[in-house]
Amino acid sequence: MFENLEELHPDPILGLMTAHRNDASLKKIDLGVGVYRDESGATPIMKSVLEAQKIRHETEQTKSYIGPPGTPEFNTLTRKLMFGNDNQAEKSNRIAGVQTPGGCGALRVAAELIKRARPKTTIWVSDPTWANHQPLLGNAGLNLKEYAYYQKSSRSLNTDGLLESLSNVPAGDAVLIHGCCHNPSGVDLEPQHWEAIADLAINQGFTPFIDLAYQGLGDSLDEDAIGVKILSERCPEVIVASSYSKNFGLYRERVGSLQIVSPNVAQTTIVQSQLGSVVRGIYSMPPAHGAAIVETILSDKTLKLQWVEELSTMRDRINLLRKELANRLTREIDQDFSFIEKQKGMFSFLGIDTNQVARLQKEFAIYMVDSSRINVAGVNNSNIDYFVESMTTILKN
Ligand code: LMR
Repeated sequence: MFENLEELHPDPILGLMTAHRNDASLKKIDLGVGVYRDESGATPIMKSVLEAQKIRHETEQTKSYIGPPGTPEFNTLTRKLMFGNDNQAEKSNRIAGVQTPGGCGALRVAAELIKRARPKTTIWVSDPTWANHQPLLGNAGLNLKEYAYYQKSSRSLNTDGLLESLSNVPAGDAVLIHGCCHNPSGVDLEPQHWEAIADLAINQGFTPFIDLAYQGLGDSLDEDAIGVKILSERCPEVIVASSYSKNFGLYRERVGSLQIVSPNVAQTTIVQSQLGSVVRGIYSMPPAHGAAIVETILSDKTLKLQWVEELSTMRDRINLLRKELANRLTREIDQDFSFIEKQKGMFSFLGIDTNQVARLQKEFAIYMVDSSRINVAGVNNSNIDYFVESMTTILKN
């Protein structure tokens, strides 16, 4: 059966975890996979999550199935968090949604639904985008094309290129946009860009498809969802895939959601039934545990406050590190690295080439994605000197 298959290279992001783990160097640094790390390099369970888990253990009464969409409470709380309390689409019952196994599950369910609705749809992704967008959407059989996004020369948004590319997207296609904390570049859209994208979507008839995997890790929970709010208020149809891996630290529990705004309630009912059927045909229904933790926290005032504070601590740490890295690298290498401070979320491109990335790994045991994407949270007080020294050696020799 499988004799014709070939062995594949390790995943470009997950493969780094194994390579780093197997590296015997005492100085090794993992700036690869997007997992939050504290000052000691650990990824601890958030206190609010531990508390919610305790409550769940004490109160859980059954392990019976939860059904393909997950619980209604989870979906309602998730919508509130992303769309806000006063959203017209939500108030008029125009959002269908399912809990999914992580943000990846949400992206794949969306792709399968798009395939059912319009098999010839092209999904437009930013240049560059997260490496796993290609298999998650492409393996469902959809065609992918790129729109301009990141400008290498300025290490910031290519605003003209972005708007120009999107003005060529035909009706019926979908445009995948990172809601915040762009992965891999850290370069985010401002409200005026979201408004311009809404204008283009309405005028041309394409569907905005937001991937919101880092809400709360950029500016704040509210500000990071500004794109979801603007597009869902203005556009007749919006797809939002979201993840609780990063902002709740629930990586291995696989908690995410797919919410779809439709122009009217009748269409929403259809989408909801189709979503249930897509899910049933792939994994039948999502796991319950992680979603129940999120539900417990978001529905309890005290726990929610605690979670928001913990999330702010994580974000503040990342932003402090950005500042320090930008200052240190600029000073020691005598090149402008101030872009690191301006970017948002876990990731930044260092802007070095693949040979330099390979040298950092081989000669200094510093691991990052080939594109020179670093997970800023992997830096701490005990490794920053070594990191800056290694970068200086690589860039000056
Ligand atoms: C990343 O981009 O590093 C994370 O989203 C983890 C992953 O699955 O790739």
